[in-house]
Amino acid sequence: MPRNHVILVGFMGAGKSSVGRLLARRLGRCFVETDDMIASREGRSISEIFRREGEARFRELEAEAVEALRLKSGEVIATGGGLPCREQRMETLRALGTVVWLRGDLAELVARARRTGARPMLQGRTPEEIEALYRSREPYYRLAHVTVDTTGLGPDQVAARVLAALRDTHAARV
Ligand code: S3P
Repeated sequence: MPRNHVILVGFMGAGKSSVGRLLARRLGRCFVETDDMIASREGRSISEIFRREGEARFRELEAEAVEALRLKSGEVIATGGGLPCREQRMETLRALGTVVWLRGDLAELVARARRTGARPMLQGRTPEEIEALYRSREPYYRLAHVTVDTTGLGPDQVAARVLAALRDTHAARV
């Protein structure tokens, strides 16, 4: 059964959290972040999980968070940047609702990600390695139902574009 969520995907720094919060308010829906689901279940921060248990364990916890989304419906969900980038994951997300890729200029995304909070996946990586990570993820993000280009835009403008795109896709589907 479709779960009717609005699911935001995209690289670190894409604004999934701030845009998601605005969208939820405008749509009168609940907002949830997969990172928060994981951190509150584990009782520790995402950075701590990476540090103490490693990335592989974090990815298992992400898989559990996706399962938990099946039990909810109609929410606006901000996913972690690496969550969609697994075999079959985008298909699973697409079955749970409308998937929106917040796409942006890589330099802008990385600068924003570095400004806002700890990002274990950026630590100790060279710009070339970060670009390679981004390129390896793009094919997954591309499978979203809707793509919104965020380049040069603030969260309010991006949220307005997402709302317009959602209206278009829903109109196209009926
Ligand atoms: C990650 C992105 C983070 C968080 C974790 C891993 C990634 O979320 O899930 O640090 O692999 O890109 P944001 O995309 O919100 O930064």
